[in-house]
Amino acid sequence: MATIRLYPSGREVPCPEGSTVLAALEAEGWALPNNCRAGTCGECKVKVRQGEFDQGFVLDMALSPAERAEGYGAMCMAKPLSDVLEIEWGTIDARPLLFPPRRDVPFTLVDAIERTPAITELVLRPDEEPLRYWPGQYVHLGNPPDAPRRAYSIANAPRADGELHFFVTRERFGRTSAWLLDRRPGDELRLDGPYGAFIGDPSIATPVVCLAAGSGLAPILALTDAALRRGFAHPVTLVLSARTEADVYPRGLLAHLERRYGNFHFVRTLTRDEGPPPRGRIPAILADLVGTLAGVAVFIAGPEAFVEDTRRACLALGADPSSLYREPYVPQDDLGSLSVLGPW
Ligand code: FES
Repeated sequence: MATIRLYPSGREVPCPEGSTVLAALEAEGWALPNNCRAGTCGECKVKVRQGEFDQGFVLDMALSPAERAEGYGAMCMAKPLSDVLEIEWGTIDARPLLFPPRRDVPFTLVDAIERTPAITELVLRPDEEPLRYWPGQYVHLGNPPDAPRRAYSIANAPRADGELHFFVTRERFGRTSAWLLDRRPGDELRLDGPYGAFIGDPSIATPVVCLAAGSGLAPILALTDAALRRGFAHPVTLVLSARTEADVYPRGLLAHLERRYGNFHFVRTLTRDEGPPPRGRIPAILADLVGTLAGVAVFIAGPEAFVEDTRRACLALGADPSSLYREPYVPQDDLGSLSVLGPW
């Protein structure tokens, strides 16, 4: 068994015989950006600082001869030949490196689907290069000065075609949400981003509990989808707080995730409706739902007050502050629409 060492953090990941570097990293929760997984796109390219590897078949357009000479390799096809392979990955704290934000990136609105009476899902396809982002990040959308640019979390994990999904809530005084919801399929939309550090910790090797309210489900879904697809094997429980049954979305995708991944469990709780239990706000029912949160990583996203109340409830149930990740949204008639926050 070879060892992959991450530079500059020094973290080490085992690489079983015959495994590619990408597969070994993913098996241990250390994601790398990737797309084709077949040596044709170059998305998984990293610098190898030390050790030998079999590069396998990779097209020159994905990894040029000059890049090979500089020590770069495409990790979706690379297999270690030496006992230790040291690659450049993330920060000294073993956090993923963020992609530089782009400005005015053109997209076409390809679909607008009313998910609930309050929330519409917008589907955008890139007209140029796809946007590179980490699940959990957000972009700015708008049309200043009429519709100031506001933050919207991307609701899906990165896809090969670059498609992005957003959940837009029509807000009473939200000029940007009103403008967005007036767009029609075929319209061009320009965005800035990605931004944000609500991207999860790749070294998490514990059960995960995700707590969302309203459109706070967007970053949670992107993180969950990405983690499950890369083979995260610990239990993942997603709790969505909704006013009524009609506000629970997207039921089809959540049902699919439950059937596809035995370790994923979805729970909805209703705060206004009489429907079947569970009912009540997440901070009030959390103890009954999950018991203790000691040794559990917790992700919280939604309106600011919801996030703060839920954070307190999690701490009371034994959650470790360093394993609590939160993304509070601020209403559009306030200063902005979302804060950039990391783990704490
Ligand atoms: S993911 Fe496309 S070359 Fe590796």
